[in-house]
Amino acid sequence: MDNETSTGHVTRKAVLRAALAAGIAAPTVLMGVPALARTLATGEVAPALTPECDDGDDPTPPQTEGPYFKPNSPLRSSLLESGTAGVRLTVSGYVFGLACRPIAGALLDFWQADTNGAYDNTGFRFRGHQFTDAQGAFRLTTIVPGLYPGRTRHLHVKVQAPGRPVLTSQLYFPGEPRNNTDSIFDARLLMSVRDAGGAKEAAFDFVLNVPQNPGPSPTATATTQPPGGSWAAGTAYRVGDRVTYGGPAYVCLQAHTGQAGWEPPNVPALWRAV
Ligand SMILES: [Fe+2]
Repeated sequence: MDNETSTGHVTRKAVLRAALAAGIAAPTVLMGVPALARTLATGEVAPALTPECDDGDDPTPPQTEGPYFKPNSPLRSSLLESGTAGVRLTVSGYVFGLACRPIAGALLDFWQADTNGAYDNTGFRFRGHQFTDAQGAFRLTTIVPGLYPGRTRHLHVKVQAPGRPVLTSQLYFPGEPRNNTDSIFDARLLMSVRDAGGAKEAAFDFVLNVPQNPGPSPTATATTQPPGGSWAAGTAYRVGDRVTYGGPAYVCLQAHTGQAGWEPPNVPALWRAV
């Protein structure tokens, strides 16, 4: 069932994730690795960390948006609501750029079918967006999506680094019979999935087509914005809202609640200078 745990293989993603968790400077040759296509056999030594991804790992491939995307999803990392039916699923991972450095503040907008294979096209059930943390990590809490005619099991997602184009794609589950007959299915988008009690724990790392210079870290080059302006943490902003921050004015591009670190100059995915 589970191609990874049952064979004893360790994915390079897992190695990378361990490296990040251990605080090793972001890396390298380990990312963006399709779960099934490239694995390290047990005992195989991971390549040494280098400042560039040069082993042919490509950006996460795009896929069709499909007919059910809706803009302005709620800001939330859990799509569970009271009474939500279905097998619990968590999806966790990182968002990286081309130099294999994690991208903080990247937008991830997920949408999916409910356990019966139906999309909510009137409200926002099983729709939500979130942002990667300072380490470039994200975590989605939801349910395993149900099947609907013509498709294998999948999640939809849009991923956007601040100020960069949107990647629209889909994520897939290993071991699904319909993976073999769904013409949209792409094995490069398979998540690593394992059973966790009655739930599922999935992992996937995105690699965005975002140039990254090896140079000083973002923290070393961050500028201190002069305080002042109408923007305030804790405020619920809607699309089109206008604020000022440190002098310049900004217009809101995505509904969200402001929080420290999401000041308009820091999150071009949320605010555009006007
Ligand atoms: Fe779909």
